[in-house]
This record gives sequence, C-alpha cells and structure tokens, in this order.
Amino acid sequence: MLQEKIEQIKKDFSIEISNINNDKQLEELRVKYFSKNGLVASLFILLKDANKDEKPQLGKVLNTLRSELQNQFNIVREQVSKSESSKNINVDLSLPGLERNVGSKHILTQTLDEIKSIFKGMGFSVFEGPELESDYNNFEALNFPPDHPARDMQDTFFISDEFVLRTHTSPVQIRLMKEQKPPVRAIMPGRVYRNEAVSSRSYCMFHQVEGLYVDTDVTFAELKGTLASFAKQFYGNNLKFRFRPSFFPFTEPSAEMDITCFICNGAGCKICKHTGWLEILGCGMVDPNVFDNVNYDNEKYTGYAFGMGIERIAMLKYGIKDIRVFFENDYRFLKQF
Ligand code: DAH
Repeated sequence: MLQEKIEQIKKDFSIEISNINNDKQLEELRVKYFSKNGLVASLFILLKDANKDEKPQLGKVLNTLRSELQNQFNIVREQVSKSESSKNINVDLSLPGLERNVGSKHILTQTLDEIKSIFKGMGFSVFEGPELESDYNNFEALNFPPDHPARDMQDTFFISDEFVLRTHTSPVQIRLMKEQKPPVRAIMPGRVYRNEAVSSRSYCMFHQVEGLYVDTDVTFAELKGTLASFAKQFYGNNLKFRFRPSFFPFTEPSAEMDITCFICNGAGCKICKHTGWLEILGCGMVDPNVFDNVNYDNEKYTGYAFGMGIERIAMLKYGIKDIRVFFENDYRFLKQF
C-alpha cells in the first residue's frame, strides 16, 4: 500500500516539477510536497501503521525518496531564480552603444612637445627650474634695476620679501649658467605667473619656453637663423618674419620677432591690429652684466637668449581667440586637438 503511494508521489512530482516556470509555482509545489502537512510528511505518518518487519526497509525508501525529491526541487529552484533575475534586465539590443571618450594630450602639451622636438633637432637640450623663485633670480641677476616696473606688486605675486612666483622663465637661464660651464645650449619650458586682470588676452598663469645658447663667438646672425628655422618648422615654410628692435634688461641688443599675420596674410586685420604682423617672441644677446652675475667671463663668451609664450604661439597657430579656454577643461574645446 505505502509502496504504491510512494511510486505515485514520485511520478506526480516529476510531472509537476517539469512544469514549473516561476517563483510562485515553485512555492506552491514546495508547500504541497515538503511542508509540515505536505505529501512527503504524510507518507512518514503512514509509516507508523506499517508492518513491524517492513518498517526499517520502508523507512529507508522514504528517506531516499525525500532526498531525491528535495534534490530535484533544488535544481529547479536554481534554474527559476536565474531566469527570474535575467528577466529583470531589460535588454534592448537595438539601443546604440555607450560612447567611449578617448583622451588625448592637452593642446598646450602638444604645442610644447612640438617646440621641444624642433629645438632638440637643432642641438638644444631641455632644462627646468622651479615655479617658486627667488626675487634675486627672477629680477636682480637678470639685470632688472631695483625700481623696474615689472617688480611692481601689480605684476608679481610676492610670496615673501625674498620669494616670488616666477613671472617668466628667464631665471632658469641663471640657474642653468650657475650649474654648467659654457658651452650651454638649452630650452627651458615652464609655468609662469602674473598678477594681471584675467581677460581674453591675459591670464594669471601661463607657460613660456626660454632658450639660451652661450659659447665663444655666438652672434646675432645665429640667433636670427635659429629662430627663423624654428618659426618655419612650426608655422610652415612660406612664413615671412622680421626682427624689430626692443628692450629687455637682460639682453643687449634686444629684439622682438614678428611673423606675417596668418589671418590677413599681411594685408592688415583686427587680429594683427592692422599692422599685418604678429609678435611671437622676445630675444637678444645676453647682457654682459648677466654673465657677471653667474661668473661667466664676459670677455670670452657671448650668447643669445629668447623667450616665447606657449599659449600665444598656440593661439596664433590654431586661431584660438581667448586664452581662458586652455584652462577651462571644456571637452568641446579639448577634443578638437
Ligand atoms: N622674459 C621675457 C618676458 O617674459 C621674454 C624674453 C625676452 C626672454 C627676451 C628672453 C629674451 O630670453 O632674450 O617677457
């Protein structure tokens, strides 16, 4: 009698479990077979009335049945829970993929890389100095008289009486010459600071590249040749340029280099203030007083120096009209380069 019931329950269970599709049906099946008043428990109740001789044997059969059914149940429960959770992910295969933004070097880094590679090709090495600089290196050693307007509080961020945020990369010339004996030929890139009102044309922080070449018999002609070669490699071979007399305390004679305005091709426009020319850098022959300050023999050595603003150089090359965009990290600007 019990044996028959066991067989019947086994059959029913295997049919019912094969039709289970969701949590609700699974729970119903669990209650029907495995709860306190379920079918499996009812078989154990019948066992009490069984013949004494058969009891041990039937008990074993019942235990095996219970664990078999429980195993099947567990397997199906696992399958159901997997399919239930996958139902919750609403996958729409027709949706476009997520856009991945690939980063690139900042346009100022790219510009500096290009400047470095051009000057390296002409025999210059790269030398760097700190942004926090002594007043002495930033001004005095560069032959700025004590009352020079560049020292004014309006231009310089003073940290103390003795230290400033460097206002240009020229003090790195002093550091280089104090460290190395001639011949020296290096460019010196870096960040500089000026206490100026922020506008489309000026920012409180920007970048410069300084250049210095000192040896016996360095001439102004070499300075012109080197800078002309740089400008042509950077802006293109068709470029026209000119050197205009100027003044800097640390060079004598001093000059500024202009290139023809790329917007109007020299005809005159708003960008070049109707002159047809754009200034790209300052330069000159190192003043003998500067050599004195670094203990270079100014009878024996001559040298040239130059300095340019990296933002300005890049603005002219790419037609960027506002210096602030370099520092705003607006992806729409950055991704163009
Ligand atoms: N230091 C100058 C400035 O910030 C730029 C400059 C001019 C650097 C002439 C030089 C130079 O080395 O020879 O405006």
